Amino acid sequence: MTTPALAGLALDPRGIAGALEALAAWPAHANLDDAARDEEFWQVVSQGFTPDRSMLNLNNGGVCPSPRVVQEAVKRYLDHANTAPAYVLWQLQEPQKETVRQELAQLSGVDAEEIAITRNASEGLETCLFGFDLERGDQILTTHYDYPRMLTTIEQRVRRDGVELVKIDLPLPLSDAAPVVRAFEAAITPRTKLILVSHVVFLTGQVLPVAEVVALGRKHGIPVIVDGAHAFAHLDFKISDIDCDYYGVSLHKWLFAPHGSGLLYVRRDKIRALWPLMAANATQDADIRKFEEIGTHPAANFLAIADALAFHRGIGGARKLARMLYLRNRWAKRLSSNPRVRLKTSLAPGWASGVANFAVDGMDMAKFQGWLWTKHRIFTVYIGKIDGRDTVEGLRISPCVYTLPADIDRFCDAVEQGIRTELAT
Ligand SMILES: Cc1ncc(COP(=O)(O)O)c(C=O)c1O
Repeated sequence: MTTPALAGLALDPRGIAGALEALAAWPAHANLDDAARDEEFWQVVSQGFTPDRSMLNLNNGGVCPSPRVVQEAVKRYLDHANTAPAYVLWQLQEPQKETVRQELAQLSGVDAEEIAITRNASEGLETCLFGFDLERGDQILTTHYDYPRMLTTIEQRVRRDGVELVKIDLPLPLSDAAPVVRAFEAAITPRTKLILVSHVVFLTGQVLPVAEVVALGRKHGIPVIVDGAHAFAHLDFKISDIDCDYYGVSLHKWLFAPHGSGLLYVRRDKIRALWPLMAANATQDADIRKFEEIGTHPAANFLAIADALAFHRGIGGARKLARMLYLRNRWAKRLSSNPRVRLKTSLAPGWASGVANFAVDGMDMAKFQGWLWTKHRIFTVYIGKIDGRDTVEGLRISPCVYTLPADIDRFCDAVEQGIRTELAT
């Protein structure tokens, strides 16, 4: 059966420029299982994007594409800005950011005065990691599996300020909060002054019990910075659910916002004490906008976040996660029926995202990644050893909402061929 929305789509000469209307008009699904398998719905979503379909991109975790409506909005805002930049950028477009701030706050379950719009997760998280006054010998506690740029940030503080970086191991993959909380608690000392923890481990898609780590930090009086780069608009949650004080996000990942967009949440009463990355006037000390004093920059990326939010709402957060898990299970369950395949990600409900990682016993996975690309034009990412540990070594597979089941099946066929032939053909 073709729904009225899909019939209208075929008549639309701009293809899916009407994706938003089509999605908004879609009849409600009876349940999330039905939603995850409604191929007609996901065709509409898929056609809202402009992927290079001559290849198969299974590294959306690096950075996602934006749907066409978002791409077009960016161009529109840029073109407008170039008509009279000092007027349009600063008098028209800059104030419009406030609407975006409010919409992001609504999706996050927090107050708009607690949301800074940043260029990426790195900017927000570095604001936090550099923004605390620390003394020589103070410790920053994190894990071996946190994002390299965030670790580099701490390492620079080590060189510059004489603080110490303490990294703990985690028993990955996991589906229980207790070992994570225990590992953090065991590493806390009187000198621990900051904790950095990822909501989703970028290497494997593993979800970590961040609310529990935040509660632990609070119990010990230690601020906890949550790296939500992969979690926001991917897992179905609100930042308020975690009850944290600091949360950094990449909006160009799973919200599909323009490349170069992110957000930083700082609880209202914590804003004053956190230094911004670039200097702000003292009158702004308690204003979340002090984290946005970055000099001249395009407003286009920030304003088009609103279009990404509209697209996201059209899909619906719960439906989006259900589809991501459906696609993940389609490949992960099929491949793991082979006794040589080992998943590096727990598939337990609530403990993993749509991103997962696998390895094949006895195979060089870096070579496997190269073979998938050169032989099949399937783009994945090889995750190597971390600090000498092979816990997460494997291929990280991150489909997206535009990925179709046939794409997943083609990927599985290729992997099975690679295993069967030991990459010889
Ligand atoms: C866990 C994690 N943190 C931070 C970042 C940095 O994000 P961005 O490139 O948006 O600054 C990434 C990027 O992949 C990430 O995976």
